[in-house]
Formats: sequence, structure tokens, C-alpha cells
Amino acid sequence: MRVPIVAANWKMHKTGAEAREYCRGFRALVPGDFPVELVIFPPFTALGAVREELEGTGIKWGAQNAHPEREGAFTGEVSLPMLREHGISYLIVGHSERRNIFGETDDFIARKLRAALDAGVSPILCVGEKLAERRAGRAREVVERQLAAALEGVRADEVGAIVIAYEPVWAIGTGVPARPEDAQEMAAFIRRWLADRFGGDAAAVRIQYGGSVKPDNAGAFLKLPDIDGALVGGASLDPDSFFAIAKAAVR
Ligand code: 13P
Repeated sequence: MRVPIVAANWKMHKTGAEAREYCRGFRALVPGDFPVELVIFPPFTALGAVREELEGTGIKWGAQNAHPEREGAFTGEVSLPMLREHGISYLIVGHSERRNIFGETDDFIARKLRAALDAGVSPILCVGEKLAERRAGRAREVVERQLAAALEGVRADEVGAIVIAYEPVWAIGTGVPARPEDAQEMAAFIRRWLADRFGGDAAAVRIQYGGSVKPDNAGAFLKLPDIDGALVGGASLDPDSFFAIAKAAVR
């Protein structure tokens, strides 16, 4: 039985003070026995405030990025051991903004994913095709390449800790989500691919949909058989809106 997981990717939004106010409001909405795993991804600078407000609530937090090395001459970067000190449970890897704006390669993403697993942090691996790739009928091929590269060195006994987020690039921040049937089709493809590669251990992997998820469309995605949660950008910046989406994941 896979526990649904709904995550808030704040991207480059919220100061520490704003994050604190959000977390106070959000934790007041979430009952102690809420049956969905909730994860907040603030910017690095707000991790301390988020931790202080969420510790002991059952709501988890994670980092939007990390460098694969433990330490070294990498100006501006932050490592997994540094982030572990802030109590993170999850790390986003392979987000399309990191791939496309910051030029991260499949190989670099694989190194980050490995570093996260080695640090005891669960990676949320983002995959997804661009609009031209979908139009050219290449969506599966692109997603398969991203999966194969990022999961290259992963063992079957490790795969259950990984969450896959299917985020079609053209649906991110556009207000135009994928059609639920297309999201389901890709999630089922990802699940079959994982089962071929990892065997029975892959059954534990949770697959999220991300891309213009809002309170009014979340239910259409979260009821799909192969979708176990959502990775939410814009609509996660308000606690009421994010909690409305989380409630749609209750089974
Ligand atoms: P939006 O929900 O703003 O489309 O962003 C999705 C996303 O990129 C989450 O990682």
C-alpha cells in the first residue's frame, strides 16, 4: 500500500519570516492523523524557520537542490551533509528548471540522486518531456532516457525510497495541466519501466504528477490508479490552497 505524497515546491519564493507564517497557518489545518505524507520544499534560507515550525507535526520538509559532493571548492553550492543538519527528509532532483535554466545534465542528476540516497535522504526525481517532444510523439522516449540515466547505479533494495514526479515541461507554471488520461498513461509507463528494471521492489515507488495542479483539478489526477501524489508549485504558496490539494489525495 503506497501512502500518497503531496509536496509543495516553493521554488524561489518566501523569506524566512514568510515561511514561518505559512507553516503556522498550514500546521493548524492538518489533523495529526492526516493520511497523506506532506512535504514542504522552501528555499535554503527558510529551511531553519520551516524546521522550527514543523518539527514534531508529522509534516516533512526537504531541499530543492544540493551538490553531489560532500564539500569542496563549489562557490554558491550546498551539500547533502549540510542539508541533513537541517533535518531534511527529501531532495528534489532533475527538476526541469534545473535541467533547462541551469543546464544540469542527466549525468549530474544521477550523481545528486546517488548522493541523496547515500545521505539517507529520499530523492524526488522529476522527469518530463517538452511540448515539441510530445508533439513529435517522443514523450515516452524522453522520460525513459531520463529514468535510465538518473537510476543507472541504483540497486533494487534502494528504489523504494525514490519518488518519481512526472512533470511535463509545458504544463509547469502555464495554468495548462496535462490531460489526466495522458498523465495516467505516462505514470503507467513509468511503473512498468521500473518493474522491468527493479522487479518487485519497484511496487513501493510512488509516482506524482506535477504541472499546474490547483485545488479544482487536483482530484482528477489524484484519483488515477498510477498517480500517488502531486508536486505543486504556484498553488502551494498559499496554505489553504495547498491543503485543499492535499485533501484530494486522501483515499
Ligand atoms: P506549477 O504547479 O506552478 O505548475 O509548478 C509545478 C512544478 O514545477 C513543481 O515542481
